[in-house]
Amino acid sequence: MVLETLKSQPLWLNFLFVLGILSLLKTSASVLKWVYVNFFRPAKNLKKRGSWALVTGSTDGIGKAFAFELAKKGLNLILVGRNPSKLSGVSSEIKSKFEKTQIKQVVFDLSRDISEGIKKITEAIEGLDVGILINNAVNVEGTTKVTQAVLPGMVKRKRGAIVNIGSGAAIVIPSDPLYAVYAATKAYVDQFSRCLYVEYKNSGIDVQCQVPLYVATKMASIRRSSFFVPSATGYAKAGLRWLGYEPLCTPYWPHSVIWGLLYSLTEFAIDGWRYNFCLKIRDSSRILGRKSNMILFCFSSFPCSVMDDKHEKRVSTLSTCFCILMSINLRKSLYRVRLG
Ligand SMILES: NC(=O)c1ccc[n+]([C@@H]2O[C@H](COP(=O)([O-])OP(=O)(O)OC[C@H]3O[C@@H](n4cnc5c(N)ncnc54)[C@H](OP(=O)(O)O)[C@@H]3O)[C@@H](O)[C@H]2O)c1
Repeated sequence: MVLETLKSQPLWLNFLFVLGILSLLKTSASVLKWVYVNFFRPAKNLKKRGSWALVTGSTDGIGKAFAFELAKKGLNLILVGRNPSKLSGVSSEIKSKFEKTQIKQVVFDLSRDISEGIKKITEAIEGLDVGILINNAVNVEGTTKVTQAVLPGMVKRKRGAIVNIGSGAAIVIPSDPLYAVYAATKAYVDQFSRCLYVEYKNSGIDVQCQVPLYVATKMASIRRSSFFVPSATGYAKAGLRWLGYEPLCTPYWPHSVIWGLLYSLTEFAIDGWRYNFCLKIRDSSRILGRKSNMILFCFSSFPCSVMDDKHEKRVSTLSTCFCILMSINLRKSLYRVRLG
């Protein structure tokens, strides 16, 4: 019946029909892949990489949450942080929950004496089977040097996984005005990860750049989590499920929805929205008397934004509005959403 109808149509109409079917198949395949990788794909066995994991910036936020989740999975930890009392506090918290976890602490301010800190890390990992590295603090020099210290052991053992924490500021949105240095350092993390991924994939080492959007942490100055803004724990759980897969990913699935939808907007529109949004954050931080300090920012590679309650709510509301308004563009976006 369908065949008869097609035969009776002009050639150009049949051609358009085939194109339409192919486009539908491609969209369906993208949707199915997205559903599979986000909800059904099994996590890799982390202990197969080695029995120790090293986490930088492990005294707060995402790094601390990763440390807890890795201990839960039975890994021993090398915790790197700049504040000795916070480091001891986190170690005790983890020990009280997971008695068997062995923990080594390395006090290291990654924005200061890098060679001294790297020496401490090298000594701490000597003879340990470090299978996982989470580069979560300080983006350029810190990430590079810590990777350089840990990688040779992984190469020798022919196994390992490295997660470098990127940011939507460099990868999802076309620009992050007023956060230029931060966004630029995250672009470095993205490309650094991608190059190492290609270099080391045949040596049994997976290098991955994970891209969070907003997460409720001290750095983002967001206290309450919501559907589009996960807690650090919610983010880390998702992060571990993606470990060892695609070289570039956004593990928390509502973030990947926003990522996909943003691709359906013009860069001009996103630039304009982001610039106004960041100006408002800067204004409110001035009102609060806590000036953004771009010099500190250069050293620590963390933005110094201060979000008051109003902006905190706005992040959440804006994300929700994006999804509702842009869902009409979902089909177009699905072609572009980057799963890896
Ligand atoms: N939260 C977000 O919305 C978001 C979005 C995109 C990307 N990210 C990325 O996620 C990563 C973690 O951010 P977060 O939100 O978890 O931040 P956070 O809550 O402020 O925690 C940052 C951690 O890094 C440590 N740290 C900072 N500077 C350091 C230094 N110079 N040397 C050693 N440790 C240092 C902090 O130590 P102290 O405890 O001593 O302060 C803390 O343990 C960062 O790479 C960030 O760019 C976050």
